[in-house]
Amino acid sequence: MTLEKTCLLAPYCSKAGEARFCNALCFPHTRLHGENGDGGLIAVANIPTKYRTSTIENLPFEKENPKAYAIIQKYGRTVVEKVDSGIGLYLFGVPSEENPKGCGNGKTTAATAIIIEYLRQRTMLEAKKQRSIDETPAFFMKMAKFQNVFNSQFRGSKDTTESNADKYQALKRKMMKCDLLVLDDIGLRGTTESLQNEIYEIIDERDTNEKATIFTSNVPLDHISEILTEQIASRIEGMTHAIPFIGRDNRKKSL
Ligand SMILES: Nc1ncnc2c1ncn2[C@@H]1O[C@H](COP(=O)(O)OP(=O)(O)OP(=O)(O)O)[C@@H](O)[C@H]1O
Ligand SMILES: [Mg+2]
Repeated sequence: MTLEKTCLLAPYCSKAGEARFCNALCFPHTRLHGENGDGGLIAVANIPTKYRTSTIENLPFEKENPKAYAIIQKYGRTVVEKVDSGIGLYLFGVPSEENPKGCGNGKTTAATAIIIEYLRQRTMLEAKKQRSIDETPAFFMKMAKFQNVFNSQFRGSKDTTESNADKYQALKRKMMKCDLLVLDDIGLRGTTESLQNEIYEIIDERDTNEKATIFTSNVPLDHISEILTEQIASRIEGMTHAIPFIGRDNRKKSL
């Protein structure tokens, strides 16, 4: 069986659909999707299963958010260059009467499509022996999950807290070092001062090293300092281009 229907590299691949090449032995396919199709760089990048088919070709918000659509497409096409230049994005929901929290209008879909595009292009560069992949090239982290991993260091028996502290340090390192980081839903309210310090450290490290970060949020940039600190807010502002997302909550089915 050939793999062109599920392989994200198919649009870039001249051998897609050819039984001799397009099979489980294909190295770039294994690199991106893993041996069984559920691993590889996509899994290493921690992309949630629901968003693993999100690509810049199938973004669902062209009609409702034509500007965001155009910017994401453009950024995606030259994503390696953008990431190398440390250019980040701040994708935020604009509240409206029909959607007071600005939810469900495509921010995470856009951010994951860019991560996937980056991994596709890096995989192709590696396959052509133009650039190798050493550490984690891209990583997705939901802020609420990050908070849980951080807090887990302070709960339970000594053994548990120690092993959780190691896990947290490994996660923090990955978030600092990866070439492209997506921080999903950063407008989380009620973050403690100690967690804010951690967020600051990660963002400041990335800022200092000019590493690209994509943020999604339900809070416009000029309000982020009310939730996180002024220092964090000003760094995010300097590191990113802000892109508003408008429209209804597409998670809700209409009556
Ligand atoms: N304009 C749109 N038209 C149709 N479907 C859309 C549109 N925008 C998003 N969707 C779909 O709605 C669902 C939610 O999208 P997504 O998770 O990207 O929203 P979000 O903006 O990140 O929401 P939140 O603010 O709650 O995190 C997905 O299934 C996505 O495919
Ligand atoms: Mg989201």
